[in-house]
Amino acid sequence: MSSYEYIAADLTETGKLAAGLASLFGPGTVLALDGDLGAGKTAFSQAVARSLGVSDVVNSPTFTIIKEYEGAELPFYHMDVYRLSADEADELGLDDYFYGEGVTLIEWASLVEELLPPERLSVYIEHGGGDSRRFRLTPAGEPYSQWCMQLKENGLLR
Ligand SMILES: Nc1ncnc2c1ncn2[C@@H]1O[C@H](COP(=O)(O)OP(=O)(O)O)[C@@H](O)[C@H]1O
Ligand SMILES: [Mg+2]
Repeated sequence: MSSYEYIAADLTETGKLAAGLASLFGPGTVLALDGDLGAGKTAFSQAVARSLGVSDVVNSPTFTIIKEYEGAELPFYHMDVYRLSADEADELGLDDYFYGEGVTLIEWASLVEELLPPERLSVYIEHGGGDSRRFRLTPAGEPYSQWCMQLKENGLLR
């Protein structure tokens, strides 16, 4: 499976990655985020929400598990499954989100890996010291593979 890299020097550059990706999003987009605490999963989620035209404040959904927002064209479903047991996750009916009308972003997605759809874009975020962050994007299936190739041609990913 090919993967792609993006280095953000600061939060603004994290926002540029989010914007580049969000321009391609459609109904049923699934983003699976992982990375240590403080890596920037929520910050990246906030940038995605902003790019989708969400005007509400997007907070970390650690305690609420799932929050739904209205974007300009697409709803945005923001999840944090860190505190969820496998059974609880099962009961949430995640497929209704994954195969729904909106864009779903899951923080700590690898914890519920078996519940994720086979087609998705996995994003692993690593702290690079200071404000720099390294994003590793691994697309599984379409349209995600196509998107990554396109963004590589555009020079956003490498
Ligand atoms: N380039 C960057 N990308 C993302 N977050 C950054 C960046 N530079 C600094 N930060 C800061 O790092 C912190 C990341 O925290 P958060 O997004 O809550 O992490 P996580 O959700 O992965 O635990 C935030 O305070 C954010 O402002
Ligand atoms: Mg978070």
